[in-house]
Amino acid sequence: MKLLVCENYEEASVTAAKYLIDLIKEKNDAILGLATGSSPIGMYKELIKSCQNKEISFKNIKTYNLDEYCGIEQSNEQSYFSFMNENLFNHVDINKANVNIPFANEGSLQEDCDKYNNMLNNVSIDLQVLGIGANGHIGFNEPNTSFDQETFIVELTKETIEANARFFNSIEEVPTHAITMGIKNILNAKQIVLIASGKSKAQAIYDLFNSKKDIKNPQTSLQDHSNVIVVVDKEAASLL
Ligand code: F6R
Repeated sequence: MKLLVCENYEEASVTAAKYLIDLIKEKNDAILGLATGSSPIGMYKELIKSCQNKEISFKNIKTYNLDEYCGIEQSNEQSYFSFMNENLFNHVDINKANVNIPFANEGSLQEDCDKYNNMLNNVSIDLQVLGIGANGHIGFNEPNTSFDQETFIVELTKETIEANARFFNSIEEVPTHAITMGIKNILNAKQIVLIASGKSKAQAIYDLFNSKKDIKNPQTSLQDHSNVIVVVDKEAASLL
């Protein structure tokens, strides 16, 4: 794993974006795995700038998102579908038919998981973007998830629900379940760029580099991948 420690969130965003921009310049039909949450927002802003300056085009780019809440509509402003439109897709020249975001209906949870998983197993993601939870989760693979896990419905931990409550009016509104790529799907990507910023991520980043591979720390599953770039700000690197 390669570690890049940046001065602050802005520098980390520019640094991470460069990997995607360089890839898209080299391969205009690249397949990207994308994440939501606060961590990649600055990076998405850089991609938008680059696209609007005509440096890159998303016309032939295909995307697969990591996860989505269960039990809320795509039209809900807190859905990851809305997040991606607002923070990236509505501002670049992507063909929305090339955008894939998992969605699981209450009535067909397993079927919907299997459908998304089959799609993932039929593509080869060139670059997967990741954030990381304070508890080490990647995607919504919470501690104690098998590293062989493929796309599944997960019950979110109390800690993750509390962390995500900041986006909702009250903690009761935060969905308790999500559909997520499994660790195995994530590890299939050719390259992984993980972004972390702030003190709350310092322990998870410390464990990423220093803890033995163990399902207690989902992020340690990345240790065996041959092409992982970890872009952090000074605070997230403070325990290293
Ligand atoms: C988002 C995702 C999550 C987040 C993680 C960090 O698609 O899969 O693993 O990356 O919860 O979230 P932020 O960036 O909001 O701190």
